Amino acid sequence: MRILVTGGAGYIGSITCRVLLDAGHDVTVLDTLEKGHRWAVDERARLVVGDVGDAAACAEALADVESVLHCAGYIEVAESEKEPEKYYENNVTRPQVLLETMRACGVTSLVFSSTAAVYGEPSEIPVTEDAPLRPVNVYGKSKARFEELLDDAERVWGLRSVRLRYFNVAGAMHEAGLGEAHTPETHIIPRVLGAMAAGVREFEVYGGDYPTPDGTCIRDYIHVLDLGDAHRRALQYLEAGGETAVCNLGNGRGYSNREVVRTCAEVTGAEVTTVIGPRREGDPAVLIASAKRAGALLGWKPRLSGLRTIISDAWQWHQMAEH
Ligand SMILES: NC(=O)c1ccc[n+]([C@@H]2O[C@H](COP(=O)([O-])OP(=O)(O)OC[C@H]3O[C@@H](n4cnc5c(N)ncnc54)[C@H](O)[C@@H]3O)[C@@H](O)[C@H]2O)c1
Repeated sequence: MRILVTGGAGYIGSITCRVLLDAGHDVTVLDTLEKGHRWAVDERARLVVGDVGDAAACAEALADVESVLHCAGYIEVAESEKEPEKYYENNVTRPQVLLETMRACGVTSLVFSSTAAVYGEPSEIPVTEDAPLRPVNVYGKSKARFEELLDDAERVWGLRSVRLRYFNVAGAMHEAGLGEAHTPETHIIPRVLGAMAAGVREFEVYGGDYPTPDGTCIRDYIHVLDLGDAHRRALQYLEAGGETAVCNLGNGRGYSNREVVRTCAEVTGAEVTTVIGPRREGDPAVLIASAKRAGALLGWKPRLSGLRTIISDAWQWHQMAEH
């Protein structure tokens, strides 16, 4: 299949491109390189440096393409709360140009990088795709809004889509020299590993009085390679004529922030103490996915599901690269 990956120079996009190329697909990347890296784009892929809000760049990138994987976007929750316009502009308004150009070029299937943040603070755990969308921050609202645009596009011109709502993505494809290289880094596993590599021996987590066994928040971590495999399957599902669908992607198992810090210490061999800082507004106590639908619809099953494996792979990547 000939696939356009927007945001294909970023963390998830670049690793997914590698998975797609290794499976024999043809890949074009459309990325501004504002947050992503040229070095992360495989030489087998065609790179168009440009914005999903630029019609000419979209048209160039969409030439000969059969399906789109839309990973491009801004991803920092705290920043989205401070600069909402920037997030609505980049995650909703600009990608409308991508959709319009797809329509003009006759490309009618798309896989979308959505997020568990669209659920906000869910009342039932594990979270199924039928849970109400009640995002509590602008980042989550921008992703939910784009999902609505996909509904409209389906109604008006027949776009079929799979919206993949990721829980916490981590890990690396270290053998290919690819991993998480965000600036700033806001995700807990690379932050703990970065702190340890820098010799810091205390790590502050947000809140220690949540109604969880050790008082810290619980999250569902998914290996980025399992995520890449799910994207490949979602694209094939649409190619085979599959209907629009929403799938959560997670392992269905949660780990507390304390467990994450402790496992990072075990993997790296460093001594580190968890320090309890203030809670962060809008952080639910527990977020665990039900990913049964991805199993049933896409035949997807996470293979690298243990927290230790996820952290070991992230650590190997961290050690091999000076980012
Ligand atoms: N990392 C996670 O844990 C996580 C969880 C849930 C959802 N997601 C979603 O997955 C996607 C990828 O996340 P990531 O961690 O790889 O982020 P990332 O920042 O590493 O990658 C995003 C890429 O998109 C590019 N980009 C941004 N705006 C663009 C635009 N207007 N036009 C073209 N390119 C643009 C950036 O340059 C970057 O290379 C995002 O949409 C994010 O919301 C990520």
